[in-house]
Amino acid sequence: MTQNTLTVTDNRTGKTYEIPIENETIQAAALRKIKVNPDDFGLMTYDPGYGATASCKSSITFIDGDKGILQYRGYPIEQLAEQSNFLEVAYLLIYGELPDKSQYEKWVYDIMHHTYVHENMARLLEAYRYDAHPVSMMISAIASLSTFHNEAKNVDDEYTRNRQVMRILGKLPTIAAFTYRHRIGRPYNYPNSDLSYTANFLYMLDYMGQTSYEVNPVLAKALDVLFILHADHEQNCSTAVMRNIGSAKSDPYSAMSGATAALYGPLHGGANEAVVKMLTEIGSVDKIPSYIERVKKGEFRLMGFGHRVYKNYDPRARIIKKIAYDVFEVTGTDPLLDIAIKLEEVALSDDYFVSRKLYPNVDFYSGIIYRAMRFPTDMFTVLFALGRAPGWLAQWIELVTDPEQRIARPRQIYLGAADRDYVPMDKR
Ligand code: SDX
Repeated sequence: MTQNTLTVTDNRTGKTYEIPIENETIQAAALRKIKVNPDDFGLMTYDPGYGATASCKSSITFIDGDKGILQYRGYPIEQLAEQSNFLEVAYLLIYGELPDKSQYEKWVYDIMHHTYVHENMARLLEAYRYDAHPVSMMISAIASLSTFHNEAKNVDDEYTRNRQVMRILGKLPTIAAFTYRHRIGRPYNYPNSDLSYTANFLYMLDYMGQTSYEVNPVLAKALDVLFILHADHEQNCSTAVMRNIGSAKSDPYSAMSGATAALYGPLHGGANEAVVKMLTEIGSVDKIPSYIERVKKGEFRLMGFGHRVYKNYDPRARIIKKIAYDVFEVTGTDPLLDIAIKLEEVALSDDYFVSRKLYPNVDFYSGIIYRAMRFPTDMFTVLFALGRAPGWLAQWIELVTDPEQRIARPRQIYLGAADRDYVPMDKR
């Protein structure tokens, strides 16, 4: 009968070790017993970017990168995008099951009645220059929410955690809308709990005092689906940060501020903004071949392409591409879409991308939709953060309630100077 173990021989000593295999992994700590001398630290793994390292056991999101599969709590993303809505998906991610009618109604009521922020928060945002990047404003605003809710530090109490979950999901769209209104020099629109989650967000962004203002339901629905598609993505960079900060028992506002900062990077959630800049720089379909050649020379990356996990088409990109057409029905089309479609076609027929399994990811088409909806490019990552918030919260709760989790503290391979004595200034 085959053993579920790894037999390792250390050729430095000829010793053999049996290491248990569980869930297709081995405990890195098991390598510590492999030593040459008894007082050695023992072996570790070296894995920059954690490409082959599991940091946790999770039941929230499943991705099969080779098959292009994405599931939230076992439900395929395609079905959730088609049949669910963002707040219901947020409930699913955080509590593990789809809510029944009364649970759902209470959940929506609670969130839509936690949309107001303290007036000091509104004043805080006004301290920024008119051209402050909205993601930078979000990072500090989310952190400052912890100053209004001191009890949030009590991360081991379920009731307290749930209250912060409602506050964060309720208040983030308000903060996001306020950053936008501050930047365009317009008065804030305060939340309207009679509207749906995304309709209220669009209202806070756009309302200019019209007597007959109505949020366009097609755009509210498109944004709702986009938020579903961004809601979680297992241990991506920003979620790993949420978990790392959470592992020190910091409050969820401080942890989410860090996660938003990680999302800001152009290699992560900032890619949607970079995609639109790239498509605008390409300018026309006939310029695509020369641009692709420069990418292949390594001058820069094709933004919105490639993924650490997906070595196939990102299933979210496929859905987003379809949403684009619904939005363009309302907003009118965007020539960038034609460039993006042609760019995808050229790249996917070029061995440089095919051999590296580089396909469009979630960011490749989302920026075009946001632009068509008249969002300024520097709001794109803010929208990504609004979508990802329930995923960050679900992962944070799973972390703080996981008995196997400890404070995150990786080791290192020290290659620096050996011990040496201090040299006085006159001797240097
Ligand atoms: C998101 O992790 C998540 O789940 C993230 C996310 C989420 O929902 O949270 O899905 C959201 O962040 C999507 C990714 C958005 N970023 C971009 O679109 C930026 C462009 N893409 C990349 O820079 C890159 O593909 C990453 C960062 C996404 C992944 O990088 P990896 O896994 O570390 O891959 P790598 O850098 O080791 O690249 C492997 C090879 C290299 O070539 P060689 O050295 O082998 O010759 O592929 C090349 C890279 O040069 N490559 C690219 C490329 N991405 C990788 N070449 C051109 N264009 C690209 N986009």
